[in-house]
Amino acid sequence: MQKGVTVWLTGLSGAGKTTISRLVETELSKSGFRVEVLDGDEIRQYLSKELGFLKEDRQKNIERAAYVAKLLTRNDVIVLASFISPYQKLREYCRREIGSFIEVYVKCSLEECIRRDVKHLYKKALNGEIQHFTGISDTFEEPENPDIIVQTDRETPAESASRILDYLIRRQYIIYDSQSVDGKSSL
Ligand SMILES: Nc1ncnc2c1ncn2[C@@H]1O[C@H](COP(=O)(O)OP(=O)(O)OP(=O)(O)O)[C@@H](O)[C@H]1O
Ligand SMILES: [Mg+2]
Repeated sequence: MQKGVTVWLTGLSGAGKTTISRLVETELSKSGFRVEVLDGDEIRQYLSKELGFLKEDRQKNIERAAYVAKLLTRNDVIVLASFISPYQKLREYCRREIGSFIEVYVKCSLEECIRRDVKHLYKKALNGEIQHFTGISDTFEEPENPDIIVQTDRETPAESASRILDYLIRRQYIIYDSQSVDGKSSL
């Protein structure tokens, strides 16, 4: 059994939002739960294709994502939404709009994100080749009151994913039926 909820992962580029949400998705799907991933990169490739990274465009991008998340959530899907979403006010807007909402702060030091530089974007941002890059030339407002904090420079992706799954179980967003392995994930 499951109750619709949006798990909103916020954090710097390279902090681990996509990595963690894919692990959570795999685990939930394996147990037969209905789950959908909304990832910033993909939404920007399709739904928000024409938008850039200035404040107004970031706002539109997040509003669209929140709208889709709301539709899915009210149909009892577990939505895993990964967006840098650097502004506190906009994240609060998402919580209000969506209602059933868990804010996960995917926390990682800027130094470690720069070291990882998964997409080689920090290098470009530091060189000035990219403007308005969160953490370098644009602000990231830390979540004031997140429901979960995962510290990805101190734990493995599997540990971070487990913390989210445990939260979903504890708050009864997902209930494993008695046939399955007593609510324990295999992460
Ligand atoms: N505990 C952890 N959780 C998640 N990722 C981790 C962790 N430890 C190390 N990593 C590594 O950090 C990188 C995170 O990259 P990922 O693309 O998931 O970040 P992101 O937050 O989605 O960034 P973006 O906003 O640019 O999409 C991966 O290479 C991953 O293997
Ligand atoms: Mg990502």
